Amino acid sequence: MAANRNRLDRWLAQTQQRPIKQMRLAVLQGRVRVDGCVAVDPTQLVDQFSRVYLDDTLVQQCAPVYLMLHKPVGVVCATRDDKHRTVLDLIDHPRKYELHIVGRLDLNSSGLVLLTNDGRWSRQLMNPEQKVAKVYRVTVKEPITDDYQVAFERGIYFAYEDITTAPVQMSPLSATSVELRLTEGKYHQIKRMFGHFRNTVLSLHRLAIGPYQLPDDLAEGQWREISLPG
Ligand code: URA
Repeated sequence: MAANRNRLDRWLAQTQQRPIKQMRLAVLQGRVRVDGCVAVDPTQLVDQFSRVYLDDTLVQQCAPVYLMLHKPVGVVCATRDDKHRTVLDLIDHPRKYELHIVGRLDLNSSGLVLLTNDGRWSRQLMNPEQKVAKVYRVTVKEPITDDYQVAFERGIYFAYEDITTAPVQMSPLSATSVELRLTEGKYHQIKRMFGHFRNTVLSLHRLAIGPYQLPDDLAEGQWREISLPG
C-alpha cells in the first residue's frame, strides 16, 4: 500500500473531524507527537502509518500489518499465479490482500519472507543504502574453494546490468554449503554468483532479513504476525 502523504494539520482535521485551525493550534501548543517527537510544524508531512498522538491518544488512519512467513520450495512469491500456490495462499489473515512482499525468494528457494501493507517500512528494509543484511544458507553441487570467498568479497561482475555486486560475507558450513550475508538483492543474485564458478545451487534458504530471523518453531508454510518496537 503506497503511503498517502498529507500535511499534519490537514490530516488531523480529517481524521478527527475538527476544524483545521483547531488542529494547527494543537500542534503549536505542543499537544501533538509524531513518531515519538513533539511536532512543531503544522505543515510537516505524515502518512497513514505515522504514529500520531493528540493529547496522548493515538490517532491512526490505517493500522499497519507486518507478517513473517516460512516459504516452502514450490510456492511463488507473488500475490497471484496461474500455475503455482502463492505466498498469499498460505496466509489466512483478514487483510492479506493489502499486503506486499518485502524481498522475493525464487520459486525453488525457501525461508523467511516478510509481508506488510506499510510501504515505508518495506522501502527502508530494501533500500540498498541502508545495507540491511539478508542471511542465506546455500548448498551447491561442487565443492566451494577459497577463491569463491575472495571473489564474493571483492564483488562479481554482472554483465547484463553492468554492475558489480556489493561485498558478500561467506562462512563455510561444509565442503558444499555456506552461509552468505548479502546487503543487496539483485535478480537471482546468489545463483548467478555461483554460476560465475559454473557451480549449481541445489538449495537456498533465507534465515534472516536485518533484525528479523526465521524462528525455529515456525514450520514451513506457517506465518505469524510481528510487532515492531515502539
Ligand atoms: N538469490 C537467488 O538466486 N535466489 C533467491 O531466491 C534469493 C537470492
